[in-house]
Amino acid sequence: MPTSVFVPAFAKINLTLSVLGRRPDGYHDLASVMQTISLHDTLRITTGSDEEITCDCDAPELRSPENLAPRAAHLLRATMDETMDETMGERGVAIELRKEIPAQGGLGGGSSDAATVLVALNTLWGTGHRVARLEELAAVLGSDVPFFVRGGTCLISGRGEVVAPLPEAEPLWLMLAKPPVRVPTGAVFRALTPTDYGDDGATDAVVRAIRAGAPLPFARLANTLEAGVFHAYPEVAATRDALREAGAPLVRMSGSGPTLYAPFRRLGEAAAVYARARADGMTVWLCRTVPADEVARSRPAV
Ligand code: C5P
Repeated sequence: MPTSVFVPAFAKINLTLSVLGRRPDGYHDLASVMQTISLHDTLRITTGSDEEITCDCDAPELRSPENLAPRAAHLLRATMDETMDETMGERGVAIELRKEIPAQGGLGGGSSDAATVLVALNTLWGTGHRVARLEELAAVLGSDVPFFVRGGTCLISGRGEVVAPLPEAEPLWLMLAKPPVRVPTGAVFRALTPTDYGDDGATDAVVRAIRAGAPLPFARLANTLEAGVFHAYPEVAATRDALREAGAPLVRMSGSGPTLYAPFRRLGEAAAVYARARADGMTVWLCRTVPADEVARSRPAV
């Protein structure tokens, strides 16, 4: 009897993103505090007894074997081939993916889809890998994918694949705005010069506050990639200015952009800015932070 579950794949924001320097392998060393948020894609995962892995998506351009979600399923099944009797258990899956997180927006949508498939199938197929092994597999798919194996609030280092869970950060309302432009991640990193590299002071300050259970120090939220993106893509800087004019006290970019976020402690303030931004024709979302235990509860239980 096939099992069929609906699972949300939450987006993330970078509360901080410090780029420390370029590595010999072409990637950059990072220090970042990442946080899952309530904006999410929805996956329906239906196991099957044949060998087939399929993925249907409501966004036609993402209906491809290159999509990270079916690739995650193939990767996990390759580990079954190593360890399990091929005649045992279910080894196929039909994935249906309803996109809500804008693709290539700096919110980790594709990465979250992939990690969610890994974690859900690890239970449904009975692969039984531990979190550390799932994070290793996730790193093969992309730098951001390991974070989403657990989600919540985490300190990220290396090229993004080294994940240390933190206590839950202060719960916040968030307004997101997506400027009308595509920003390729690779190009943003390649445009950095050594003068852009900084230390991890902002990330350290935010981590210390989170570990102390203190309110998030909004003034220390920072993203090394922002200046270059604001300069190269005036649409992003214009959206930031429009959000400030709509009343957002603080606006930051998530990841390599272009999506911007504004954090709020009170729903009333967030809702007022959201309403003004919408009336101005901006593409906006009003959402909230999601802690790791909520991410865990949203997935199939072992
Ligand atoms: O790992 P992922 O495929 O998500 O990264 C996309 C691109 O972003 C990489 O090809 C690389 O150019 C850049 N990148 C980087 N340093 C990182 C992460 C990504 O230079 N830590």
